[in-house]
Amino acid sequence: MTTFDTRPTVDFDHHSPEYAQNSHAINAELRAKCPVAHTDAHGGFWVITRYDDVVAAAKNDEVFASGYTVNGVSPLGVTIPPSPVPMCPIEMDPPDYLPYRKLLNPFFSPGESKKWEPRIRHWVDVCLDQVIEKGSFDLVDDLANPVPSLFTCEFLGLPIERWDDFASIQHEIIYTPPEQQEDILRRYMELCGEVFALIGERRNNPKGEGLIDVLVQAEIDGKPIPDETVFSMVNLVIAGGFDTTTAVTASALIWLAEHPAERQRLIDNPDLLSSALEEFLRYFTPQQALARTVTKPVSVAGVQLQPGERVLLSWASANQDENAFERPDEIILDRFPNRHTTFGIGIHRCLGSHIARIELGTMIRRVLDRMPDYRVDLEAARRYPSIGIINGWINAPATFTPGRRLSDEKLPGT
Ligand code: HEM
Repeated sequence: MTTFDTRPTVDFDHHSPEYAQNSHAINAELRAKCPVAHTDAHGGFWVITRYDDVVAAAKNDEVFASGYTVNGVSPLGVTIPPSPVPMCPIEMDPPDYLPYRKLLNPFFSPGESKKWEPRIRHWVDVCLDQVIEKGSFDLVDDLANPVPSLFTCEFLGLPIERWDDFASIQHEIIYTPPEQQEDILRRYMELCGEVFALIGERRNNPKGEGLIDVLVQAEIDGKPIPDETVFSMVNLVIAGGFDTTTAVTASALIWLAEHPAERQRLIDNPDLLSSALEEFLRYFTPQQALARTVTKPVSVAGVQLQPGERVLLSWASANQDENAFERPDEIILDRFPNRHTTFGIGIHRCLGSHIARIELGTMIRRVLDRMPDYRVDLEAARRYPSIGIINGWINAPATFTPGRRLSDEKLPGT
């Protein structure tokens, strides 16, 4: 696997099917043999895999930049390969980045996020009501995919009856290989056009609800935020918040179905849920890795990195590092401490982490309350063929003893 010319080189591609199938083993080998390794994939980049190195690099945002344009070079940013359009503010660096984060922070604080809990629980129960009487559902299509979309439409002020369009497209984009994406990308661009038009409408005629209305009325450095930038922020909340949460919810529910004693432990001890959520987030690490660009010569674990070089920070490998976690390859529901890197580290740490925890916790809690004996058909369940963007499931059919609806409410637009 490893060859040494002037620099430690490996054959590594986080988008490859091999990585999707053997990510834990590949990450373990990298950490053991070549913790700062160069690969030629996607034009060449370094991959950093040990916990301490990942954390140090993520905290050092002056040397490890997130910008879409760094020193006049673009496209760069936080994905390898780069995304077609910059995402704001995740692909910005200080000082320009800071006013955007300051503007967004209050809407994602622990207190503000908690206020959304009743709405999230409402949508979870409405989703479960649609399937509870028939005794079968798909963990992804009927629950883990709709809930983040329903919440986000309300949170942003997007038309709630379009939740399915947003949810389906985000999910399809993530699991469809790039060479088959033409039709999805066309549909996605159409939807983006609608969101863009809505931003313009709200600027002229605010409804007074949802984050979009706040953004079109806000100022940065004394000037209104242009529609393109507002769109980019809205798109980031959708792209960052949807399939990440969907993926970890599906993974956790499937694991609980496969480990009935642990599921029963969670049913009998509701207080265990908060540590269990952290452990699911650590173990399944929905967003496996994100990129940075080196701005100054820097040494990581004795390896010299040069300005302009691209670096992949593997949150997933950091979360599996045996020097940071005891028995990292086991899911230990009461693991403590659990300083995982799943939401990132440093100035770009996930804005939506509090919301994600509420969504994940509520979905698990309500499934355990309302369909405690659910069984997943693992033969029919399908994992993502590539986990370079998100580590998740395309779908996961399940059956359970039917129960009673809580209300007759239908999902919006159905
Ligand atoms: C389990 C679910 C989630 C995971 C694993 C996750 C993961 C991450 C990670 C790793 C970052 C850091 C990016 C970096 O360092 O470059 C991040 C940033 C971000 N996340 Fe999340 N996320 C999740 C849910 C959400 C939700 C629900 C929202 C919105 C409602 C959200 C919105 C954002 C935003 C806006 C940023 C950019 C922050 C910045 O650049 O300052 N995320 N997320």
